[in-house]
Amino acid sequence: MTLYDDFLAAFPDYASTLALDGLRATQYARLDQQDQVYLDYTGGGLYAATQVQEHAAMLADQVLGNPHSVNPSSMQTTRLVEQARAAVLAYFGGTGAYTAIFTLNASGALKLVGEAYPFTPGGRLLLTADNHNSVNGIREFAQRRGAVVDYAPLTRPELRLDEPALHTLLAQADAGQPNLFALPAQSNFSGVKHPLEWVQTARSHGWHVLLDAAAYVPTSRLDLRTVSPDFVVMSFYKMFGYPTGVGCLLVRNERASTLRRPWFGGGTVNFASVQARLHVLSDGEAGFEDGTLNYLSIPAVEAGLRHLQRVGIETIGTRVQCLTGWLIRRLLALKHGNGRPMVRLYGPANLTMRGGTLTMNFYDPEGHLVDYRRVEELAAQARISLRTGCFCNPGAGEAAEDLNEADMRAAVEHMGRDINLPRFLQVMQARGGKTAGAIRVSTGLASNFADVERFLEFVQGLRDQTALSIGGATFDIESCRVVRDGG
Ligand SMILES: Cc1ncc(COP(=O)(O)O)c(C=O)c1O
Repeated sequence: MTLYDDFLAAFPDYASTLALDGLRATQYARLDQQDQVYLDYTGGGLYAATQVQEHAAMLADQVLGNPHSVNPSSMQTTRLVEQARAAVLAYFGGTGAYTAIFTLNASGALKLVGEAYPFTPGGRLLLTADNHNSVNGIREFAQRRGAVVDYAPLTRPELRLDEPALHTLLAQADAGQPNLFALPAQSNFSGVKHPLEWVQTARSHGWHVLLDAAAYVPTSRLDLRTVSPDFVVMSFYKMFGYPTGVGCLLVRNERASTLRRPWFGGGTVNFASVQARLHVLSDGEAGFEDGTLNYLSIPAVEAGLRHLQRVGIETIGTRVQCLTGWLIRRLLALKHGNGRPMVRLYGPANLTMRGGTLTMNFYDPEGHLVDYRRVEELAAQARISLRTGCFCNPGAGEAAEDLNEADMRAAVEHMGRDINLPRFLQVMQARGGKTAGAIRVSTGLASNFADVERFLEFVQGLRDQTALSIGGATFDIESCRVVRDGG
């Protein structure tokens, strides 16, 4: 029996995804040609060769002008942009019920909601401790306008939403005031898929719901006919790699009038006057799309969606589940010669309601943390692309390590504005061995068994090595200085 046989025996559904190996050989051949192992799909997806070829051919073929006019080149651009918009709505089952607003990325979409949501004293913003920083940032708008801001906590060690606490928080809304609940469909830290039933529960308690689908939609189907948040955000490069610079805000049509834009700009007004200092905002998506859209890239979104449809999102999801299950099993079995575990995994060590993102730290035989920055350097030497740090999701990292407000305040007091994640980690180590920052691997459309095995071999290479011999930063707590960096 080979390892691959073991894997297939343990995860027989993988056999139903073998068509993806053919796709890897043709559309993603550059990975193997360059001997690269790509394990950062939560950071960004990879594009198929044909996506860029089709796009390049379209650009070479067509005369495309700025879409804000009625000349032939402009009209052609408008046609392509509107075609892409219709394709996005159709893909998510939102045609007729939602408006698709093109943005720069998911963060741009989140900022649009944050700045235009009518937060008010008496109203609320409810976030989860598992939000990306671009969602956390909405609290700045809410606080400035006097709304109450709360966080729904996570359970440990699974890092799932604490259901009783969330029920209590949801029940606190005054339904006569504007209340916004923002949750991620999938964690970009732990891979946890949060139950989408919360969308309806929150709405029935008088909340508008903002669903951050950025980490969810690359491997899962979101159907807005069955789950109907008021606002949904995503970045297309995470779904299919290309194009970058295009994201989307989907707004339920009945909710569009709730948002009040704090400014106007080119492209967003039907009429504006300098003399009278008045403006009339455009209806629908046009009122939210500031300036000139990324009109040459937007048509590539349609090609990307077609690609996902051809491949099948369920097939991608199945493959990712199988590879994730194998990684969990093998990583947790890794032990040093003295029997101590090599890996500490954050979040669920099972496949229940989770996607293909795994976050972990490595420990040496004495239980000392291996510096995640050194791990990234070593992985890079092995041609493995993984991610390290806090992944712009501080709340999940804090919950994972049980870091509390006192820890945060102590670190800021110690370091002032010089604080950053590596320094914070060193302070936490000095305060009793807590960690901050971790190593993240994530699989996706073009991942295969060989990729995860290469990563596992890499981790095995750290067996019985001391953290000191592996290298990394050593921090002097008294002087707040890194005294030895990078080993
Ligand atoms: C869950 C989640 N939300 C939002 C974002 C922000 O996406 P972008 O950087 O494309 O704006 C990310 C990016 O990693 C994410 O994973």
